[in-house]
Amino acid sequence: MRALVAGNWKMNGLAASLAELGALKQALAKTPAACDVLVCPPATLIAQAALLLEEGHVKDAFALGGQDCHAQPSGAFTGDLSAEMLKDAGASYVIVGHSERRQYHGESDGDVAAKARAAWRAGLRAIICLGETDAQRDDGAHHHICSSQLEGSVPEGATPENTVIAYEPVWAIGTGKTPTGEDIAAMHAHIRGCLVRRLGEGARGIAILYGGSVKPDNAREILNLPEVGGALVGGASLKSADFLNVIGAVNPS
Ligand code: 13P
Repeated sequence: MRALVAGNWKMNGLAASLAELGALKQALAKTPAACDVLVCPPATLIAQAALLLEEGHVKDAFALGGQDCHAQPSGAFTGDLSAEMLKDAGASYVIVGHSERRQYHGESDGDVAAKARAAWRAGLRAIICLGETDAQRDDGAHHHICSSQLEGSVPEGATPENTVIAYEPVWAIGTGKTPTGEDIAAMHAHIRGCLVRRLGEGARGIAILYGGSVKPDNAREILNLPEVGGALVGGASLKSADFLNVIGAVNPS
């Protein structure tokens, strides 16, 4: 399975930031990555980024994704974007159920599942996020929390083609803290077990990314752990030089 290194720019990036994507494109055209690469800029930049990728015939240097979508294809939902709109702008992926959406927008597992189905309907691959808070880990409830989020957020019909899971412990996001390699491997094995029990043997091919303070200096260790199919990178994806160092940490298979 080819690894996926995905950048989530969150609410960062103006038109000037397209220069970072230009630099990323050029570097990957020169030295192709040993993994699939995805950037999820703010939705305002997706169409411009897609145009930038078309110049110079290196369209496949990296893919583009949205950071959230509405469950409906269109309608009276002021301020929202549908999966179809993201697809139309040039996205092939969309992140759903990020902990910042769950926390600041009150999204439930059911909302996240509906968004994942919307992604599939539009022909996008859904990156479904889950992860425990520090209090839940302190209570020893982290495995239970993640299986219950998975149960509620990953719809029947998830396949390696239409779905990626991202395990992002909330306490590791933007903090510089990461779980130990052993803890990451244990959680990924747990998630794999839940996926297979729920969806059958075909779910062995669904990539499980790790996210939370992935940086150039810890990427190699994390990306080499068993069942870690790639990384979802926040802060270190904003500058092409940092992001390229994370991408470069993937061993050619
Ligand atoms: P950081 O890499 O900045 O910790 O963010 C992780 C994240 O939330 C990616 O979705």
